[in-house]
Formats: sequence, C-alpha cells, structure tokens
Amino acid sequence: MLSRERFRALVAAAHKAPSPDNLQGWAFGLRDGAIEVRLPDAHRLPTDVGDMFSWIGIGAALENLMLQAGAEGLTAAVEVVPTSGQGSAGEAAGQLAARVTVAEGGVRDPLVDQLDARVTNRKPFDSEPLDPSLCQRLQTAAVAPGVSLQLLTSKQERTRLGALVADNDWIRMSHQPFHAELFSVFRLSRTEAVTRGDGLDLASLELPVPAGLFLRLVGKWPAAKMLNRIGLAKGFAKGSGNGVVASGAAGLVSTSGDANRDYVAAGRAFQRIWLTATALGLGFQPLGGLSQYLTKVRKERSTFLPEHAAHLDTLQAPFREIFGLGNGHPALMFRVGRASGLPLGRSLRRPVDDVIF
Ligand SMILES: Cc1cc2nc3c(=O)[nH]c(=O)nc-3n(C[C@H](O)[C@H](O)[C@H](O)COP(=O)(O)O)c2cc1C
Repeated sequence: MLSRERFRALVAAAHKAPSPDNLQGWAFGLRDGAIEVRLPDAHRLPTDVGDMFSWIGIGAALENLMLQAGAEGLTAAVEVVPTSGQGSAGEAAGQLAARVTVAEGGVRDPLVDQLDARVTNRKPFDSEPLDPSLCQRLQTAAVAPGVSLQLLTSKQERTRLGALVADNDWIRMSHQPFHAELFSVFRLSRTEAVTRGDGLDLASLELPVPAGLFLRLVGKWPAAKMLNRIGLAKGFAKGSGNGVVASGAAGLVSTSGDANRDYVAAGRAFQRIWLTATALGLGFQPLGGLSQYLTKVRKERSTFLPEHAAHLDTLQAPFREIFGLGNGHPALMFRVGRASGLPLGRSLRRPVDDVIF
C-alpha cells in the first residue's frame, strides 16, 4: 500500500513538470492505494483544442512521477482513462485522466537527476546544427508506442520552419479570444507571480523590466488592435520565428492517433527528450503555436476568424512536408541548442498541497 508520505513525494516530482502557459493542469488523489490523476477545470487552457496541450502536460507530469517512483524503489503502471468528451460534471477535482498503480521493486533511471534542472529557456541558442550524436541521444529518448520525433538541423530547413512559425503565431495576438487568454497568463509583476505561483512570469520570458509597462498597455484589446495595424502582432511572431533559426535543431513530436492517450504518450516522450537535452547541457524551449492552430483549424474551424482559418490552410502542406509527417498528428514542437546562458528567471509553481485532492 502506498503511504501518504511516498504519495506526496511522487506528486512533488510530478508537479515540477512543464505545462502549457504554466497552468499546472493536474491534480492528484490517493484512492484505494492507487493514484488518481485529474484535469481540473480551473487550470485548463481555455482555447486548447480538445485539451490536447493539457494531456501533453499531464503526460509530462506522469513521466516525472514514474521517474521518481523508480528512484524510490517503486514501480508504477499508468492507465490513461479514455475521455468521452463530456468532462466530469459534479467532480470538483476535475475530469479523471489516469490511474497509477504503484508496487515495490523499481529501477532508478538517471534522468530523475534532471527534474530540478529542466527549464524552459527562451534565450537565443547557437545556430550551428546540432551534432548528429546529440540528435541520436534525443531520438533514443523519444521511444514510446505511437510517438515519433522528427528533428530538423540544417539552417535552410530551420529558416523555412521559422517562416511558418512566424506566419502562424501572429494569429494569437490578432484575435480577441486568443489575445485575452495570452494576457490572462502573463504575470506582470513579481508580487503577482509569487502570489499566484502559476502563469508566465515576466522574468522567465527574457524581457527587460520596462516590457511589463508595454505589456500592460497591449494587454488591453483596443490598444492591441490599433497597434496590430502598424505591425505589432507580426513583430511578436517574427521573434518566435527567429528563435527557430537561433537554435541547433527544431523538433516535432507527433503521434499516430489523436485521442487523449496519444497526447499523454507524446507528453511522456516529450519530457524524456527534454530531460535528456538537460543532461546534455542543452537549452530547450517548447513551441506550441503551429501544432495547436493547425490541429484546431481542422477540428474547431469556427473558433478562428475566416481570414485566419484560410491563412492556416495554406500552412498545412508545407508544415507536413518539412517534417515528413505523413498521416501523423503534430503534438508539440521545440527548439534545442547550446544556449547563451541559463534563463533570467524560472516559472514558479503553486504549493504541492494545492494539487492534491
Ligand atoms: C503543451 C505545452 C506547450 C508549450 N508551449 C510553449 C510555447 O509555445 N512557448 C514557450 O516559450 N513555452 C511553451 N511551453 C513551456 C511552458 O510555458 C513552461 O513549461 C511553463 O511555463 C513552466 O516553466 P518551466 O518549463 O521552466 O518549468 C509549453 C509547455 C507545454 C507543456
């Protein structure tokens, strides 16, 4: 039987995982000796397509939990609960995502040593193509059923991809619901970041302090709308595209299916790739825009303005072609490389007790 103390240690490790916009969309309970993992409504990304990014975050948290279990001499088995798409009315802790059963007799995986060091690094990276031996190490980390990793290293490919990223990302600043979501997760003062313990702390975004004042201004939709006319959204997006060029490789984790269990598997593989990159001393940043919008425009077309939907249609074929995606489903992209330094700041977490029900 899993003791309360060991349960808490496993949850503390899971809670160090990355999550979309640092929303920490997970909650853990100990029920009949097994761990229940839930997706709380209050920590979902409002515009996420079918909770795809939440499932990826839960996958990353589960991978941390499994690694910690191994380090504690335990072995953990995960069963992902298929979703009906109905949510879970009446369950305060949120929709049931997975059950984890834990038994004695695990093996320690050295990746567990990277749980604290892993961090999102938004600095520019060296743009020399990543050494093939390092790419191979990342490929080995990505092995999971139905999950693939495609890596682009040549500068020419990364430049092409950077243009697609820039062509996609301006939409987040150009449509009011997406803009509102983005500005709801920015923590523009240190006090707000510390009090909330979630969201995107300005310090982790590599922005100078006066950027807070500017973001306060463009956080108001009328101001953003006006400044978009003189290129604000395109300027933001150009920065994301440049990041792909300023890297040693760009990667895409994709899945053979698009059910919640596929995205949980992608999240687990993504986390192993990231922890491996950390062990290799490489900087790493997830890039969510393209996989999110190219999936969303297929499944929830009416959530876009018609001109944005039509524009996204033109990106589908080049995106699939550049990654040789075939029939696969894009889950999450990233860039990786030798960083010019550690991030200026790290994203915070809510207290561990807040994610225990
Ligand atoms: C599904 C998913 C999508 C993400 N998308 C982005 C992104 O587009 N850009 C970015 O800079 N970080 C992205 N992140 C990183 C999160 O913002 C980051 O994990 C979170 O703020 C916690 O910070 P940490 O990774 O340093 O612990 C993403 C993370 C996940 C799990």
